[in-house]
Amino acid sequence: MGVHTGRPAILFFGFLSVIGASFSPSFAADNLDQTSSLRDGLSLLYLCIRFNRGNEKPVVWAANRESPLNGSDGILRFGEDGNLVLLDKAGNIVWSRILNSSTGGNRVARLLETGNLVISDAGGVLWESFDEPDNTLLPGMKLSLNTKTGARKHLTSWKAMDDPSPGKYTSRLVVKHLPTTVLQEGTTLIFSPGFWNGVGFTGSPSHNANNFFNSSVVSSGDEVSYSDSLIAGTGSLRLVVTPSGSIKRYVWKDKADSWTLLWTAPAISESYGLCGPYGTCAESDYPNCRCLSDFSPKSPEEWQQGNWTGGCVRNTGLSCSGGDGFRAVEPVKLPALLNATVTEDMSLEDCQARCANSCTCTAYGSGDIRRGGKVCVSWDGDLVDIMNFTSSGQVLFLRVADANGGTIFS
Ligand SMILES: *[C@@H]1O[C@H](CO)[C@@H](O)[C@H](O)[C@H]1NC(C)=O
Ligand SMILES: *[C@@H]1O[C@H](CO)[C@@H](O)[C@H](O)[C@H]1NC(C)=O
Ligand SMILES: *[C@@H]1O[C@H](CO)[C@@H](O)[C@H](O)[C@H]1NC(C)=O
Ligand SMILES: *[C@@H]1O[C@H](CO)[C@@H](O)[C@H](O)[C@H]1NC(C)=O
Ligand SMILES: *[C@@H]1O[C@H](CO)[C@@H](O)[C@H](O)[C@H]1NC(C)=O
Ligand SMILES: *[C@@H]1O[C@H](CO)[C@@H](O)[C@H](O)[C@H]1NC(C)=O
Repeated sequence: MGVHTGRPAILFFGFLSVIGASFSPSFAADNLDQTSSLRDGLSLLYLCIRFNRGNEKPVVWAANRESPLNGSDGILRFGEDGNLVLLDKAGNIVWSRILNSSTGGNRVARLLETGNLVISDAGGVLWESFDEPDNTLLPGMKLSLNTKTGARKHLTSWKAMDDPSPGKYTSRLVVKHLPTTVLQEGTTLIFSPGFWNGVGFTGSPSHNANNFFNSSVVSSGDEVSYSDSLIAGTGSLRLVVTPSGSIKRYVWKDKADSWTLLWTAPAISESYGLCGPYGTCAESDYPNCRCLSDFSPKSPEEWQQGNWTGGCVRNTGLSCSGGDGFRAVEPVKLPALLNATVTEDMSLEDCQARCANSCTCTAYGSGDIRRGGKVCVSWDGDLVDIMNFTSSGQVLFLRVADANGGTIFS
């Protein structure tokens, strides 16, 4: 086939020998049927799907991430059993996918405009690459979690720019109370944009406000999933987890000739836990951390030295018996949902009453900011991962001992 601008291509790609602007595919095809096969002429190391956009032509998916072909020949075809196999020149199976023998007939692999490699037969879809995400999220692809079985679709970084084998970083959807995406190094949380508040993530109000795409979180049966969709006029979009542990969002605008980096996360102020309990973080502040008002650094010495992880403590303790109140702190990223309670169909008024009636409740806020969306979030214990924005954030109703200008309850 010809290489059309913008169209994803499936091809064999020798990372170790050629990468970047000078690379041109020796063979590419977007259709494979049961009698044909893909064969390249050059060094065959990984079977990849990549964009045909810009000089960079970024790779978005590699089949044999963990088992590169050794040598200069490889074949992708349907085996005699009908399964999809990638063979090296000696005929050894390097990578394969077992396909259900459904209705038989007309088994075909097709690469769609979306970048999804789909294998189907007369009976329907048998397998698709979108179900096995690599390091890149494309529009229409899902980060998902089955809350019953725990099955997930998540992104895994490459080990290095030229080594697609799985690296240390993953980006996944977690559902603890409310859906949240997280970036982890192994099992350590290093960044989260916060929970999904019905419109966007509480900690990324501006990431979701753009003219290129919109994002959604959808629950269907046991599955909760996050996905992006392009807004008309946007050429392409991709989100990549890099080998060094950042998330980069690129857009290809219509009539453009290169990818534009929209944002990189985490920014310094987005590093999980940087400012400790009751600390707030702002990218524009130096130092980045400060204590919520009426709180002071737990260890002034460490705080002074730029180690903020110990966080802040109250200047005046709460009195459970009465006299406490709430102060609206805004606009902020609401705290991580540690020790939080989420109640659907509860107004903010009732949410406040519930928090007021519990001695351990430290704050409350809205879990859904859409019109009429009534989801009460209340926190027991320490509040961590709060960010201070200059505009468009949420309101945290913080329990304080002396309700300076806030609502007093007794
Ligand atoms: C690749 O093939 C060459 C030549 O057959 C062999 O010497 C080498 O050990 C192989 N490398 C791997 C990683 O299998
Ligand atoms: C294969 O078919 C079985 C039975 O219909 C089904 O449970 C299973 O999920 C299918 N596997 C795949 C990979 O689609
Ligand atoms: C998101 O964009 C798609 C495509 O333009 C549109 O159909 C959909 O209504 C949008 N959704 C939201 C929530 O704006
Ligand atoms: C920062 O402070 C925390 C506790 O407040 C302490 O455990 C940690 O060792 C300190 N880190 C450094 C690099 O000093
Ligand atoms: C959450 O509650 C547990 C048990 O009460 C407590 O040990 C822990 O410190 C709390 N976490 C936060 C962040 O308050
Ligand atoms: C947020 O930053 C502004 C200005 O930098 C500051 O006045 C305000 O107290 C901060 N709010 C919080 C909750 O840290």
